[in-house]
Amino acid sequence: MKALVFHGPGRRSWQEAPDPRLIDPGDAVVRVDAVTICGTDLHILGGDVPAVTEGRILGHEAVGTVVETGLAVGGVKVGDRVLISCITSCARCSYCRVGRYGQCREGGGWILGHLIDGTQAEYVRVPYADTSTYKLPDSVSDEAALLLADILPTSYEVGVLNGAVRPGDSVAVVGTGPIGLAAIATARLLSPSLVIGIDKAAPRLEAAKHFGADLVLTPGGDCEAQVMAATDGLGADVVMEAVGTPETFELCTRLVRPGGHVANIGVHGASATLHLESLWIKDVTITTGLVDTFSTPTLLRMTAAGRFDTGAFVTHRFGLHEMQDAYDVFERAADTGALKVALFRR
Ligand SMILES: NC(=O)c1ccc[n+]([C@@H]2O[C@H](COP(=O)([O-])OP(=O)(O)OC[C@H]3O[C@@H](n4cnc5c(N)ncnc54)[C@H](O)[C@@H]3O)[C@@H](O)[C@H]2O)c1
Ligand SMILES: [Zn+2]
Ligand SMILES: [Zn+2]
Repeated sequence: MKALVFHGPGRRSWQEAPDPRLIDPGDAVVRVDAVTICGTDLHILGGDVPAVTEGRILGHEAVGTVVETGLAVGGVKVGDRVLISCITSCARCSYCRVGRYGQCREGGGWILGHLIDGTQAEYVRVPYADTSTYKLPDSVSDEAALLLADILPTSYEVGVLNGAVRPGDSVAVVGTGPIGLAAIATARLLSPSLVIGIDKAAPRLEAAKHFGADLVLTPGGDCEAQVMAATDGLGADVVMEAVGTPETFELCTRLVRPGGHVANIGVHGASATLHLESLWIKDVTITTGLVDTFSTPTLLRMTAAGRFDTGAFVTHRFGLHEMQDAYDVFERAADTGALKVALFRR
């Protein structure tokens, strides 16, 4: 088969790779019908995620068709159309038992395209297939389902729920790439009174407006003063970090009001400064996290019911074999206006 292989920072190729095969009885092999690229893949290529070693097939978001199942698989069968979640769950360890699949101790968690070969390929091996895939109803298209593999649950769980957004809150989202936009879309489920989007790329601020930001700002200049002016001089109730750099995290801690929440979503490759000298007295709660995907069934139901403007997330469509072009377009999002890129088996 063909797959997108990581060859160390800055180097990737679309090349021949061995067909995946069943290893454990809980595995399934899935033919990839639709796949996308995440900002996290760009972090990996930037060298921010050293656990990803050379030769790894990237990708942790896909929709596909089951082509082979191990002896222990009972919940999905050959021919089923499934969502492959970015998080794999053994369903049995102490973390999985309480829905914290991201922290699975039995070889699950974020493994696809990280610790084992991922979904940016013609076929992928999915461990613990029964509890790491979701059968898709016909009413949800491959393209819409792709958003459920990572961005919607991540933004909702790590941004909105960790940030404890409540009705009437002011919410600022730093970084309005796909994750930040999904954070805006899912924060709005809770009726905030004000949503502010902050990004340095103009097309992404346009998108933020489309998804419901009331105010969009570029960082630097009078950005911080504008946030203060829009929030009675206090700062936002909830500030979400959806970039993954020290300066954006530090910006978030300056934009939050006393008693507020900073919810870090970004993947970081360098340390940020925690200004406790100014934060300690403000009763600020700071959360970080890897998505667990416990909300996926709920978000799937809402997607099937048309509760999200899923069509607005995908800006560029490619054939699977145009993977390198898709990366080029996604990497140059500030110029290309790309949000999510979707690649389809044709
Ligand atoms: N915690 C998790 O489980 C989880 C899951 C998925 C993705 N992520 C992370 O979420 C983050 C966002 O993902 P994405 O797919 O939207 O990435 P992306 O790269 O598409 O978007 C990042 C956005 O940040 C903007 N940006 C860059 N520098 C900025 C700055 N200094 N100030 C303001 N904006 C700036 C960019 O213009 C871009 O729009 C990444 O760090 C990704 O790794 C985390
Ligand atoms: Zn991701
Ligand atoms: Zn587990």
